[in-house]
Amino acid sequence: MSAILYPGSFDPVTHGHIDVILRLRKLFSRVLVLVADSRRKQYLFSTEERVEMMQKALKTAGAKNGVDVFGSKMLTVDFAKKEKINLIARSVRTVADWEYEYAMADANRKLLPSLETLFIMADPKFGFISSTLVREVAAFGGDTKEFVPPNVAKALAEKYKRGRKCFQNERRV
Ligand code: COA
Repeated sequence: MSAILYPGSFDPVTHGHIDVILRLRKLFSRVLVLVADSRRKQYLFSTEERVEMMQKALKTAGAKNGVDVFGSKMLTVDFAKKEKINLIARSVRTVADWEYEYAMADANRKLLPSLETLFIMADPKFGFISSTLVREVAAFGGDTKEFVPPNVAKALAEKYKRGRKCFQNERRV
């Protein structure tokens, strides 16, 4: 098998996402990781920050050639067309993910009929992790190392330290 596109928000990337990417790389000679935006979400990290975090995390995880990270503000199908990719991977943790994933796969296929979506099960070890949960832990000053790569844990702590300082200052006024 040749190339597959793995799009996501990765706000931030978690151990679960990294596990999926490394497993995809065993099946495909090239994995294009696409850090994209969803209009349904408000992001903590900018696209550039998410790309950089992903690159560092993959390096630490030992991903070598064949895994490339891109940032995009365009439709995922347009990126796929540009890169001549006809396969998208999405990861499913529990049945709760299914309806959203099915709708997205269906919309993508209507936009680009040659595009197939392949669903890969998240490792049950990481099935409870979500980017929202990780942000919540970090927002209250919790340690996120269990859930995310070291560089991401550091970036989260930095981001919220600044936020908490602002909040404390606001309360003093
Ligand atoms: N491990 C850990 N978490 C996982 C996971 C795994 N294996 N698999 C899924 N998740 C979680 C994520 O943590 C995330 O949690 P959150 O909802 O708390 O943030 C959630 O599942 C899904 O997030 P993610 O995988 O980052 O992707 P997304 O659903 O935010 O991505 C895009 C959506 C960006 C791919 C989609 O909106 C897109 O393609 N946008 C570009 C514009 C476009 O084409 N729009 C039309 C789409 S039809």
